Amino acid sequence: MERIVIVSNRVPSGSSDAAAGGLAVALKAALGEREGIWFGWDGKIGKNTSRSAQVKRSGALTFATLSLSKPEFRGYYEEFSNRALWPVFHGRLDLCRPDGGSFQTYKDVNLRFARALTELLQKDDRIWVQDYHLIPLGRALRRLGVDGPLGFFLHIPFPQAESLAALPSLKELLADLCAYDLVGFQTQACAENFRDAVARTLGGCLQSDGSLTVGDQVVNVGAFPVGLDTRAFAEMAASPEVIRRSRKLRDAMGEGNWICGVDRLDYIKGIAERLRAFENLLQQAPELRGRLSLIQVAAPSRESVTEYRAMRDQLDSLSGRINGRFGTFDWTPVHYLNRTFSQKPLAALYRASRIGLVTPLRDGMNLVAKEFIAAQDPEDPGVLVLSRFAGAAEELSDALLVNPFDQAAMVEAIKTALAMPLKERQQRWRRMFERIEQNTAESWRNGFLEALEAAWEDRGEARAERAA
Ligand code: F6P
Repeated sequence: MERIVIVSNRVPSGSSDAAAGGLAVALKAALGEREGIWFGWDGKIGKNTSRSAQVKRSGALTFATLSLSKPEFRGYYEEFSNRALWPVFHGRLDLCRPDGGSFQTYKDVNLRFARALTELLQKDDRIWVQDYHLIPLGRALRRLGVDGPLGFFLHIPFPQAESLAALPSLKELLADLCAYDLVGFQTQACAENFRDAVARTLGGCLQSDGSLTVGDQVVNVGAFPVGLDTRAFAEMAASPEVIRRSRKLRDAMGEGNWICGVDRLDYIKGIAERLRAFENLLQQAPELRGRLSLIQVAAPSRESVTEYRAMRDQLDSLSGRINGRFGTFDWTPVHYLNRTFSQKPLAALYRASRIGLVTPLRDGMNLVAKEFIAAQDPEDPGVLVLSRFAGAAEELSDALLVNPFDQAAMVEAIKTALAMPLKERQQRWRRMFERIEQNTAESWRNGFLEALEAAWEDRGEARAERAA
Protein backbone atom coordinates (compact mmCIF):
# COMPACT_ATOMS: atom_id res chain seq x y z
CA MET A 1 0.00 0.00 0.00
CA GLU A 2 1.26 3.51 -0.88
CA ARG A 3 2.43 5.79 1.90
CA ILE A 4 0.13 8.50 3.06
CA VAL A 5 1.67 11.91 3.70
CA ILE A 6 -0.44 14.13 5.95
CA VAL A 7 0.44 17.79 6.07
CA SER A 8 -1.18 19.93 8.77
CA ASN A 9 -0.23 23.08 10.58
CA ARG A 10 -0.06 21.28 13.90
CA VAL A 11 1.54 17.90 14.40
CA PRO A 12 0.89 16.19 17.74
CA SER A 13 3.96 16.11 19.94
CA GLY A 14 3.41 12.87 21.85
CA SER A 15 1.10 9.90 22.16
CA SER A 16 -1.28 11.50 24.71
CA ASP A 17 -3.24 14.15 22.94
CA ALA A 18 -5.12 16.30 25.41
CA ALA A 19 -7.48 18.24 23.21
CA ALA A 20 -11.16 17.41 22.82
CA GLY A 21 -12.49 16.95 19.31
CA GLY A 22 -10.52 18.73 16.64
CA LEU A 23 -8.28 17.98 13.75
CA ALA A 24 -5.43 16.20 15.56
CA VAL A 25 -7.81 13.72 17.21
CA ALA A 26 -9.51 12.90 13.91
CA LEU A 27 -6.24 12.52 12.03
CA LYS A 28 -4.68 10.32 14.67
CA ALA A 29 -7.66 8.02 14.53
CA ALA A 30 -7.68 8.16 10.73
CA LEU A 31 -4.03 7.23 10.35
CA GLY A 32 -4.39 4.14 12.50
CA GLU A 33 -1.53 1.75 11.85
CA ARG A 34 -0.93 2.90 8.30
CA GLU A 35 2.57 3.75 7.18
CA GLY A 36 3.08 7.40 6.54
CA ILE A 37 4.54 10.80 7.24
CA TRP A 38 2.91 13.52 9.31
CA PHE A 39 4.48 16.81 8.35
CA GLY A 40 3.97 20.31 9.80
CA TRP A 41 4.88 22.94 12.36
CA ASP A 42 6.40 21.69 15.63
CA GLY A 43 4.53 24.37 17.62
CA LYS A 44 7.78 26.18 18.44
CA ILE A 45 8.75 29.76 17.68
CA GLY A 46 12.44 30.35 17.53
CA LYS A 47 15.53 31.19 15.64
CA ASN A 48 16.12 27.65 14.47
CA THR A 49 14.21 27.78 11.20
CA SER A 50 16.33 25.27 9.33
CA ARG A 51 15.61 24.31 5.73
CA SER A 52 15.07 20.64 6.46
CA ALA A 53 12.46 19.12 8.75
CA GLN A 54 13.34 17.38 12.02
CA VAL A 55 12.41 13.74 11.57
CA LYS A 56 11.25 11.38 14.32
CA ARG A 57 9.92 7.85 13.82
CA SER A 58 7.18 6.35 15.96
CA GLY A 59 5.98 2.92 14.80
CA ALA A 60 4.74 3.10 11.22
CA LEU A 61 4.61 6.88 11.35
CA THR A 62 7.33 9.41 10.69
CA PHE A 63 6.80 12.84 12.24
CA ALA A 64 8.59 15.58 10.31
CA THR A 65 8.43 19.09 11.72
CA LEU A 66 9.73 22.62 11.24
CA SER A 67 9.81 25.61 13.61
CA LEU A 68 8.54 29.06 12.71
CA SER A 69 10.44 32.29 13.20
CA LYS A 70 8.68 35.06 15.13
CA PRO A 71 7.77 37.07 12.01
CA GLU A 72 6.52 33.87 10.33
CA PHE A 73 4.37 32.99 13.35
CA ARG A 74 2.90 36.48 13.30
CA GLY A 75 2.22 36.79 9.58
CA TYR A 76 1.34 33.21 8.69
CA TYR A 77 -0.42 31.96 11.83
CA GLU A 78 -1.72 34.90 13.88
CA GLU A 79 -2.52 37.35 11.12
CA PHE A 80 -3.41 35.68 7.84
CA SER A 81 -4.64 32.30 9.09
CA ASN A 82 -6.39 33.46 12.24
CA ARG A 83 -7.30 37.10 11.57
CA ALA A 84 -8.30 36.77 7.91
CA LEU A 85 -9.13 33.22 6.84
CA TRP A 86 -10.62 32.06 10.15
CA PRO A 87 -13.08 34.93 10.69
CA VAL A 88 -14.13 35.15 7.03
CA PHE A 89 -14.65 31.39 6.66
CA HIS A 90 -16.80 31.50 9.83
CA GLY A 91 -18.87 34.44 8.63
CA ARG A 92 -17.31 37.02 11.01
CA LEU A 93 -16.38 39.56 8.38
CA ASP A 94 -16.29 42.25 11.07
CA LEU A 95 -13.26 40.51 12.61
CA CYS A 96 -11.23 40.22 9.39
CA ARG A 97 -8.26 42.45 10.16
CA PRO A 98 -5.01 41.02 8.85
CA ASP A 99 -2.07 43.36 8.70
CA GLY A 100 -0.65 44.40 5.32
CA GLY A 101 2.22 42.00 4.64
CA SER A 102 0.71 38.90 6.18
CA PHE A 103 -0.51 37.30 2.94
CA GLN A 104 3.04 37.34 1.59
CA THR A 105 4.37 35.74 4.80
CA TYR A 106 1.57 33.14 4.61
CA LYS A 107 2.67 32.23 1.08
CA ASP A 108 6.37 32.25 2.03
CA VAL A 109 5.79 29.80 4.89
CA ASN A 110 3.79 27.53 2.59
CA LEU A 111 6.65 27.58 0.09
CA ARG A 112 9.17 26.83 2.83
CA PHE A 113 7.05 23.89 4.00
CA ALA A 114 6.72 22.66 0.41
CA ARG A 115 10.50 22.75 -0.15
CA ALA A 116 11.22 20.85 3.07
CA LEU A 117 8.53 18.30 2.27
CA THR A 118 9.90 17.51 -1.19
CA GLU A 119 13.11 16.25 0.46
CA LEU A 120 11.08 13.49 2.15
CA LEU A 121 8.76 12.40 -0.63
CA GLN A 122 8.79 9.11 -2.52
CA LYS A 123 7.32 8.44 -5.94
CA ASP A 124 3.99 6.83 -5.01
CA ASP A 125 3.14 8.94 -1.96
CA ARG A 126 -0.44 10.13 -1.56
CA ILE A 127 -0.26 13.68 -0.23
CA TRP A 128 -3.15 14.92 1.87
CA VAL A 129 -3.01 18.55 2.98
CA GLN A 130 -5.21 19.68 5.87
CA ASP A 131 -6.94 22.93 6.58
CA TYR A 132 -6.83 26.65 5.91
CA HIS A 133 -3.25 27.33 6.99
CA LEU A 134 -1.94 25.41 3.99
CA ILE A 135 -4.10 26.34 1.01
CA PRO A 136 -1.12 27.37 -1.24
CA LEU A 137 0.97 24.31 -0.38
CA GLY A 138 -0.35 22.11 -3.22
CA ARG A 139 0.40 24.60 -5.99
CA ALA A 140 3.85 25.21 -4.46
CA LEU A 141 4.52 21.45 -4.54
CA ARG A 142 3.40 21.21 -8.16
CA ARG A 143 5.76 24.06 -9.10
CA LEU A 144 8.58 22.17 -7.38
CA GLY A 145 7.88 19.21 -9.65
CA VAL A 146 5.76 16.97 -7.41
CA ASP A 147 3.39 15.19 -9.77
CA GLY A 148 1.65 12.58 -7.60
CA PRO A 149 -1.93 12.60 -6.22
CA LEU A 150 -2.58 15.69 -4.15
CA GLY A 151 -5.65 16.19 -1.98
CA PHE A 152 -6.83 18.97 0.31
CA PHE A 153 -9.39 18.81 3.11
CA LEU A 154 -10.91 21.88 4.75
CA HIS A 155 -11.88 21.25 8.38
CA ILE A 156 -13.65 24.58 8.78
CA PRO A 157 -16.70 25.89 6.89
CA PHE A 158 -16.43 27.27 3.37
CA PRO A 159 -18.71 30.33 3.18
CA GLN A 160 -20.93 31.69 0.44
CA ALA A 161 -19.38 33.80 -2.31
CA GLU A 162 -20.69 37.13 -0.86
CA SER A 163 -18.82 36.54 2.43
CA LEU A 164 -15.70 35.30 0.67
CA ALA A 165 -15.44 38.60 -1.13
CA ALA A 166 -14.17 40.11 2.16
CA LEU A 167 -11.00 38.09 1.81
CA PRO A 168 -7.86 39.75 0.52
CA SER A 169 -6.32 37.82 -2.39
CA LEU A 170 -9.40 35.66 -2.90
CA LYS A 171 -8.64 34.86 -6.56
CA GLU A 172 -5.19 33.58 -5.79
CA LEU A 173 -6.44 31.41 -2.92
CA LEU A 174 -9.18 29.87 -5.07
CA ALA A 175 -6.66 29.17 -7.82
CA ASP A 176 -4.43 27.52 -5.19
CA LEU A 177 -7.31 25.24 -4.20
CA CYS A 178 -7.91 24.34 -7.84
CA ALA A 179 -4.34 23.04 -8.08
CA TYR A 180 -5.30 20.00 -5.97
CA ASP A 181 -6.74 16.88 -7.60
CA LEU A 182 -9.43 16.69 -4.94
CA VAL A 183 -10.77 19.29 -2.51
CA GLY A 184 -12.91 17.93 0.33
CA PHE A 185 -15.31 19.68 2.69
CA GLN A 186 -17.20 18.72 5.83
CA THR A 187 -20.65 19.21 4.30
CA GLN A 188 -22.45 19.22 0.95
CA ALA A 189 -23.37 22.86 1.56
CA CYS A 190 -19.69 23.85 1.83
CA ALA A 191 -18.81 21.89 -1.33
CA GLU A 192 -21.60 23.76 -3.15
CA ASN A 193 -20.30 27.12 -1.90
CA PHE A 194 -16.85 26.26 -3.26
CA ARG A 195 -18.19 25.27 -6.68
CA ASP A 196 -20.18 28.48 -6.83
CA ALA A 197 -17.20 30.64 -5.77
CA VAL A 198 -14.90 29.07 -8.38
CA ALA A 199 -17.53 29.48 -11.09
CA ARG A 200 -18.14 33.14 -10.20
CA THR A 201 -14.61 34.26 -9.39
CA LEU A 202 -12.42 32.19 -11.72
CA GLY A 203 -14.97 31.43 -14.42
CA GLY A 204 -14.71 27.71 -13.64
CA CYS A 205 -17.10 25.31 -15.42
CA LEU A 206 -19.11 22.84 -13.39
CA GLN A 207 -19.10 19.32 -14.90
CA SER A 208 -21.96 16.84 -14.57
CA ASP A 209 -19.96 14.73 -12.06
CA GLY A 210 -19.57 17.74 -9.73
CA SER A 211 -15.94 18.44 -10.68
CA LEU A 212 -14.74 21.84 -11.89
CA THR A 213 -12.70 22.79 -14.92
CA VAL A 214 -10.66 25.98 -14.70
CA GLY A 215 -8.54 26.49 -17.83
CA ASP A 216 -6.78 23.15 -18.30
CA GLN A 217 -7.06 22.37 -14.58
CA VAL A 218 -9.64 19.86 -13.35
CA VAL A 219 -10.48 19.65 -9.66
CA ASN A 220 -12.79 17.10 -8.07
CA VAL A 221 -14.92 18.31 -5.17
CA GLY A 222 -16.74 16.37 -2.48
CA ALA A 223 -18.17 16.26 1.04
CA PHE A 224 -16.41 13.95 3.51
CA PRO A 225 -17.82 14.52 7.01
CA VAL A 226 -15.08 13.77 9.51
CA GLY A 227 -15.77 11.19 12.22
CA LEU A 228 -14.36 9.68 15.39
CA ASP A 229 -12.90 6.35 16.25
CA THR A 230 -16.38 5.82 17.70
CA ARG A 231 -15.93 2.33 19.03
CA ALA A 232 -12.71 3.19 20.87
CA PHE A 233 -14.27 6.33 22.34
CA ALA A 234 -17.42 4.46 23.43
CA GLU A 235 -15.32 1.70 24.99
CA MET A 236 -13.21 4.21 26.87
CA ALA A 237 -16.37 5.95 28.11
CA ALA A 238 -17.75 2.61 29.34
CA SER A 239 -14.53 1.64 31.13
CA PRO A 240 -14.73 1.14 34.92
CA GLU A 241 -12.52 4.18 35.53
CA VAL A 242 -14.67 6.56 33.47
CA ILE A 243 -17.91 5.13 34.88
CA ARG A 244 -16.58 5.66 38.41
CA ARG A 245 -15.68 9.26 37.64
CA SER A 246 -19.03 9.95 36.01
CA ARG A 247 -20.98 8.43 38.96
CA LYS A 248 -19.03 10.63 41.34
CA LEU A 249 -19.96 13.65 39.28
CA ARG A 250 -23.65 12.66 39.14
CA ASP A 251 -23.73 12.01 42.90
CA ALA A 252 -22.34 15.48 43.51
CA MET A 253 -25.46 16.85 41.79
CA GLY A 254 -27.88 14.72 43.89
CA GLU A 255 -31.39 14.83 42.36
CA GLY A 256 -30.37 17.60 39.98
CA ASN A 257 -28.81 17.59 36.53
CA TRP A 258 -25.62 18.66 34.82
CA ILE A 259 -25.41 20.40 31.49
CA CYS A 260 -22.03 20.37 29.80
CA GLY A 261 -20.33 22.51 27.19
CA VAL A 262 -16.84 21.64 25.95
CA ASP A 263 -15.03 23.91 23.51
CA ARG A 264 -11.85 25.64 22.57
CA LEU A 265 -12.17 29.22 23.77
CA ASP A 266 -13.17 30.78 20.47
CA TYR A 267 -15.71 33.42 19.42
CA ILE A 268 -17.23 30.99 16.89
CA LYS A 269 -18.24 28.54 19.61
CA GLY A 270 -21.15 30.62 20.94
CA ILE A 271 -20.06 30.24 24.57
CA ALA A 272 -21.22 33.70 25.62
CA GLU A 273 -24.61 33.15 23.94
CA ARG A 274 -24.88 29.80 25.74
CA LEU A 275 -24.08 31.31 29.15
CA ARG A 276 -26.68 34.03 28.54
CA ALA A 277 -29.28 31.42 27.59
CA PHE A 278 -28.53 29.56 30.80
CA GLU A 279 -28.87 32.80 32.76
CA ASN A 280 -32.24 33.49 31.07
CA LEU A 281 -33.40 29.98 31.90
CA LEU A 282 -32.60 30.45 35.60
CA GLN A 283 -34.36 33.80 35.50
CA GLN A 284 -37.51 32.32 33.94
CA ALA A 285 -37.61 29.01 35.83
CA PRO A 286 -36.80 29.56 39.53
CA GLU A 287 -37.69 25.91 40.23
CA LEU A 288 -34.49 24.90 38.42
CA ARG A 289 -32.26 26.92 40.73
CA GLY A 290 -30.24 24.60 42.93
CA ARG A 291 -31.12 21.67 40.63
CA LEU A 292 -29.27 22.43 37.42
CA SER A 293 -25.66 23.44 36.82
CA LEU A 294 -23.64 24.10 33.70
CA ILE A 295 -20.07 22.87 33.47
CA GLN A 296 -18.44 24.89 30.69
CA VAL A 297 -14.94 23.89 29.63
CA ALA A 298 -13.25 26.54 27.50
CA ALA A 299 -9.77 25.30 26.62
CA PRO A 300 -7.30 28.18 26.13
CA SER A 301 -6.61 28.83 22.46
CA ARG A 302 -4.71 31.34 20.28
CA GLU A 303 -4.10 33.56 23.28
CA SER A 304 -1.69 35.82 21.42
CA VAL A 305 -4.52 36.91 19.10
CA THR A 306 -6.35 40.04 20.34
CA GLU A 307 -9.88 38.78 19.70
CA TYR A 308 -9.27 35.65 21.79
CA ARG A 309 -7.96 37.63 24.79
CA ALA A 310 -11.05 39.84 24.65
CA MET A 311 -13.26 36.77 24.56
CA ARG A 312 -11.58 35.30 27.64
CA ASP A 313 -12.26 38.49 29.62
CA GLN A 314 -15.87 38.46 28.47
CA LEU A 315 -16.42 34.85 29.61
CA ASP A 316 -14.69 35.44 32.96
CA SER A 317 -17.05 38.27 33.69
CA LEU A 318 -20.19 36.58 32.34
CA SER A 319 -19.73 33.39 34.36
CA GLY A 320 -18.89 35.47 37.46
CA ARG A 321 -22.03 37.55 36.96
CA ILE A 322 -24.32 34.50 36.75
CA ASN A 323 -22.80 32.91 39.83
CA GLY A 324 -22.95 36.20 41.72
CA ARG A 325 -26.56 36.65 40.74
CA PHE A 326 -28.00 33.18 41.37
CA GLY A 327 -25.44 31.16 43.34
CA THR A 328 -26.06 30.03 46.93
CA PHE A 329 -23.79 28.68 49.69
CA ASP A 330 -24.40 25.14 48.47
CA TRP A 331 -25.03 25.58 44.73
CA THR A 332 -22.87 27.03 41.95
CA PRO A 333 -24.83 27.59 38.72
CA VAL A 334 -21.85 27.80 36.33
CA HIS A 335 -18.60 25.87 36.69
CA TYR A 336 -16.45 27.72 34.20
CA LEU A 337 -13.14 25.98 33.54
CA ASN A 338 -10.63 27.83 31.39
CA ARG A 339 -8.33 24.81 31.12
CA THR A 340 -7.54 21.89 28.84
CA PHE A 341 -8.68 18.41 29.91
CA SER A 342 -7.70 15.02 28.58
CA GLN A 343 -10.20 12.62 27.05
CA LYS A 344 -11.07 10.46 30.09
CA PRO A 345 -12.35 13.24 32.37
CA LEU A 346 -14.22 14.70 29.41
CA ALA A 347 -15.83 11.35 28.62
CA ALA A 348 -16.90 11.14 32.29
CA LEU A 349 -18.36 14.63 32.06
CA TYR A 350 -20.30 13.80 28.88
CA ARG A 351 -21.65 10.62 30.46
CA ALA A 352 -22.68 12.33 33.68
CA SER A 353 -24.53 15.14 31.87
CA ARG A 354 -28.24 15.11 31.11
CA ILE A 355 -27.64 17.66 28.35
CA GLY A 356 -24.70 18.30 26.01
CA LEU A 357 -24.93 21.90 24.79
CA VAL A 358 -23.01 22.16 21.53
CA THR A 359 -24.11 25.49 20.16
CA PRO A 360 -21.43 27.10 17.97
CA LEU A 361 -22.43 30.12 15.88
CA ARG A 362 -20.64 28.40 12.98
CA ASP A 363 -18.44 25.32 12.97
CA GLY A 364 -16.91 23.06 10.31
CA MET A 365 -17.99 19.82 11.99
CA ASN A 366 -17.68 19.87 15.81
CA LEU A 367 -16.47 16.49 16.97
CA VAL A 368 -17.45 17.25 20.57
CA ALA A 369 -21.07 16.62 19.46
CA LYS A 370 -20.03 13.15 18.28
CA GLU A 371 -17.94 12.49 21.40
CA PHE A 372 -20.95 13.38 23.55
CA ILE A 373 -23.06 10.77 21.74
CA ALA A 374 -20.30 8.14 21.82
CA ALA A 375 -19.88 8.56 25.60
CA GLN A 376 -23.52 8.04 26.63
CA ASP A 377 -24.92 5.17 28.66
CA PRO A 378 -27.32 3.43 26.19
CA GLU A 379 -29.77 2.71 29.04
CA ASP A 380 -29.96 6.31 30.21
CA PRO A 381 -28.55 8.60 27.53
CA GLY A 382 -28.30 12.36 27.75
CA VAL A 383 -29.76 14.73 25.15
CA LEU A 384 -27.68 16.56 22.59
CA VAL A 385 -28.72 20.17 21.94
CA LEU A 386 -26.91 21.05 18.74
CA SER A 387 -26.53 24.24 16.74
CA ARG A 388 -27.95 24.02 13.24
CA PHE A 389 -24.84 25.91 12.13
CA ALA A 390 -22.43 23.12 13.11
CA GLY A 391 -21.44 20.76 10.29
CA ALA A 392 -22.43 17.88 12.58
CA ALA A 393 -26.09 18.92 12.24
CA GLU A 394 -26.17 17.50 8.70
CA GLU A 395 -25.63 14.00 10.17
CA LEU A 396 -27.02 14.34 13.70
CA SER A 397 -30.53 15.44 12.81
CA ASP A 398 -31.91 13.51 15.81
CA ALA A 399 -30.37 16.03 18.17
CA LEU A 400 -32.49 18.96 19.33
CA LEU A 401 -31.38 21.41 16.65
CA VAL A 402 -31.30 25.06 17.72
CA ASN A 403 -30.51 28.49 16.38
CA PRO A 404 -27.78 29.69 18.77
CA PHE A 405 -28.57 33.35 17.99
CA ASP A 406 -32.13 32.91 19.29
CA GLN A 407 -32.07 33.09 23.10
CA ALA A 408 -35.72 32.07 23.51
CA ALA A 409 -35.19 29.00 21.32
CA MET A 410 -32.11 28.00 23.32
CA VAL A 411 -34.05 28.24 26.60
CA GLU A 412 -36.91 26.19 25.12
CA ALA A 413 -34.48 23.52 23.84
CA ILE A 414 -32.96 23.10 27.32
CA LYS A 415 -36.43 22.79 28.85
CA THR A 416 -37.46 20.23 26.21
CA ALA A 417 -34.28 18.24 26.82
CA LEU A 418 -34.88 18.21 30.59
CA ALA A 419 -38.44 16.99 30.12
CA MET A 420 -37.67 14.40 27.45
CA PRO A 421 -38.99 10.92 28.37
CA LEU A 422 -36.46 8.11 28.67
CA LYS A 423 -37.86 6.26 25.65
CA GLU A 424 -37.45 9.24 23.35
CA ARG A 425 -33.94 9.88 24.67
CA GLN A 426 -33.04 6.27 23.92
CA GLN A 427 -34.53 6.35 20.41
CA ARG A 428 -32.83 9.58 19.41
CA TRP A 429 -29.52 8.48 20.90
CA ARG A 430 -29.65 5.06 19.15
CA ARG A 431 -30.17 6.65 15.71
CA MET A 432 -27.32 9.10 16.24
CA PHE A 433 -25.01 6.44 17.60
CA GLU A 434 -25.67 4.25 14.55
CA ARG A 435 -24.78 7.18 12.35
CA ILE A 436 -21.44 7.87 14.06
CA GLU A 437 -20.69 4.16 14.19
CA GLN A 438 -20.91 4.16 10.38
CA ASN A 439 -19.16 7.46 9.69
CA THR A 440 -15.90 7.04 11.54
CA ALA A 441 -12.45 8.55 11.25
CA GLU A 442 -11.42 5.45 9.33
CA SER A 443 -14.30 5.63 6.84
CA TRP A 444 -13.59 9.35 6.41
CA ARG A 445 -9.97 8.58 5.54
CA ASN A 446 -10.92 5.73 3.22
CA GLY A 447 -13.63 7.78 1.52
CA PHE A 448 -11.26 10.66 0.89
CA LEU A 449 -8.33 8.55 -0.29
CA GLU A 450 -10.51 6.48 -2.63
CA ALA A 451 -11.91 9.68 -4.14
CA LEU A 452 -8.36 11.01 -4.48
CA GLU A 453 -7.32 7.85 -6.29
CA ALA A 454 -10.30 8.20 -8.66
CA ALA A 455 -9.50 11.88 -9.26
CA TRP A 456 -5.89 10.96 -10.00
CA GLU A 457 -6.95 8.33 -12.52
CA ASP A 458 -9.31 10.80 -14.23
CA ARG A 459 -6.41 13.23 -14.49
CA GLY A 460 -4.33 10.46 -16.07
CA GLU A 461 -6.83 10.15 -18.93
CA ALA A 462 -6.95 13.91 -19.35
CA ARG A 463 -3.14 14.10 -19.35
CA ALA A 464 -2.94 11.35 -22.00
CA GLU A 465 -5.58 13.12 -24.14
CA ARG A 466 -3.66 16.38 -23.92
CA ALA A 467 -0.41 14.63 -24.82
CA ALA A 468 -2.03 12.84 -27.84
O1 F6P B 1 -10.17 22.65 13.35
C1 F6P B 1 -9.68 23.90 13.12
C2 F6P B 1 -8.34 24.13 13.78
O2 F6P B 1 -7.81 25.34 13.34
C3 F6P B 1 -7.33 23.07 13.47
O3 F6P B 1 -6.67 23.23 12.24
C4 F6P B 1 -6.44 23.23 14.66
O4 F6P B 1 -5.64 22.12 14.91
C5 F6P B 1 -7.41 23.51 15.78
O5 F6P B 1 -8.45 24.21 15.17
C6 F6P B 1 -6.80 24.27 16.95
O6 F6P B 1 -6.36 25.56 16.56
P1 F6P B 1 -4.84 26.04 16.68
O7 F6P B 1 -3.98 25.10 15.93
O8 F6P B 1 -4.83 27.42 16.13
O9 F6P B 1 -4.51 26.00 18.14
